Amino acid sequence: MTCGLPYVNGPCHIAHLRTYVPADIFVRFLRKMGQEVVFVCGSDTHGTPITVKAEEEGVTPQEIIAKYHQHFVELFPRLGISFNNYGNTDDPLNHSRTIQIIEALMRNGYVYAKILTLPYCPICKRFLPDRYQRGTCPYCGAPARGDECDQGCGRYLEPGELMDPRCSVCGTKPEQRETRHYFLRLTAFEDFLRDYLNHMEGTDIARNYAIQWVEKGLKDWNITRNMDWGVKFPGEEGLVLYVWVDAPIGYISSTEEWAERTGGDWEYYWKGPGYLIHFIGGDIVYHHCLFWPAMLKGSGYDVPYAVVASGMVRVEGKIFSKSRGYVIWVEEDYLDKGLDPDALRYYIASYTGHTRDLDFSWTTYGEKVNKELVGTLGNFLYRALLFAYRNYKAIPEGRVEPEVRTEVEKAIQTIRDALDEYAFKKITDAVVTLAAYGNRYLQAREPWKTRKTDPEKAQEAIHNCLWLTKAIAVLIEPVMPEKAEVVWSQLGEHREETPLSEALKPLLAGTPLDKPDPIFEQVSDETLSSLIEMVSHRIAMAKG
Ligand code: 2FM
Ligand code: ZN
Repeated sequence: MTCGLPYVNGPCHIAHLRTYVPADIFVRFLRKMGQEVVFVCGSDTHGTPITVKAEEEGVTPQEIIAKYHQHFVELFPRLGISFNNYGNTDDPLNHSRTIQIIEALMRNGYVYAKILTLPYCPICKRFLPDRYQRGTCPYCGAPARGDECDQGCGRYLEPGELMDPRCSVCGTKPEQRETRHYFLRLTAFEDFLRDYLNHMEGTDIARNYAIQWVEKGLKDWNITRNMDWGVKFPGEEGLVLYVWVDAPIGYISSTEEWAERTGGDWEYYWKGPGYLIHFIGGDIVYHHCLFWPAMLKGSGYDVPYAVVASGMVRVEGKIFSKSRGYVIWVEEDYLDKGLDPDALRYYIASYTGHTRDLDFSWTTYGEKVNKELVGTLGNFLYRALLFAYRNYKAIPEGRVEPEVRTEVEKAIQTIRDALDEYAFKKITDAVVTLAAYGNRYLQAREPWKTRKTDPEKAQEAIHNCLWLTKAIAVLIEPVMPEKAEVVWSQLGEHREETPLSEALKPLLAGTPLDKPDPIFEQVSDETLSSLIEMVSHRIAMAKG
């Protein structure tokens, strides 16, 4: 299992989490169901996103990547994101794996050289790859950068395609100069890709877009750039591989790094019976469903079993944009303010279907935390545990009622089906529904009354509530791992990563209970107002 590698040219933001949180939830569930999973990611360290940022700050690319690599390394555990390995694409292991793959593609006749005439800035004295050029998208006419129509139709642009290019550093109209480049013969993979994509698992948006692009006709892909920063193209001066060559190869080298460290077998996943699953953002389907399978196939590796592409992110209703201020910085805006990491995981999983656009709005955040987490889920857990503690000080004896068992079985089945569809919202909905059922059950049994009139009945009811509480602890763990641990400890046990089957196991009557605390904290109106104000201010500053 992999997650798209973040460019390490800035800190982690909410759009990153749109992929990482559902992927982490998926991995945790797979493990709960007995699958052995290696979950890898790493920093994407090459390409113009890094060099442009380094030049802006007047530092070397190495300094930029060291700083933000460390940031991501420290941030992921704070959110419970549990990679088995987090590598980086500038690692010697990734350089050598990339060269190995390129040489294999060359040997197999899939790479050819071609002289191109490309924009060259006479002032900056260099060619202008990707983000070093700004101009007009040849497809939709929107302002665009060299490699991507970032403000219009979103298309990937090949070197030389951008219209009316200008140097993005000094604004000069570039000259045209000849330079030798290398292409991957993507057109040779057309039949293979058509067949592959028809069988590829994952989300429809990945498969359907990719099939559409194959049907429209493929073009060979320029895999080199006139730069020094990156993986050097063998035998050429001043030419490196395009970042989109060595970035996904980072998935392999991160697996190799994991294998070196743990004695595991990376080839089991990349050249053997293991399944490869990529979780990515919806904007990089082209790279993962066309370029990447072609590179793997052409160099003797296995191709991905599934590509799970997410929808995009909005912030307060507007398309996510760092430059326009529609952004939530995960560390600065969220974690450092003492907000609950699990509540953010919950928001991302529960806001909408995985392939739809997710809007992050502080008002919705407040509603979700206060109504769903505090009002329904937390309310049931706290009421059940507090009643048990006050009246029995331990888990009372009892028999699980068939109706209660059926509710848990239903939730488990819903979750299993949801995982097959990569439908994470259905998972969180199933758990909240189970807690709502628990609240109704408790209300109907009225143990506060029967405790005096029919003590056995009251005990039975509380036993059932605590049994439900345990089931919830098992089922919320992949979404809210910290909270699951708290619930377990309130049930008098210390458990992590329990198998899914534990949800239906009996409870140990007699286990002593401590006084519980509420599991979720209400977000106050005051806090919400200041968070809303923070984003409005950022947007206003960006405009100004
Ligand atoms: O689009 C991006 O942010 C890239 N850094 C994703 C790379 S994913 C992979 F292929 F490495
Ligand atoms: Zn466009």
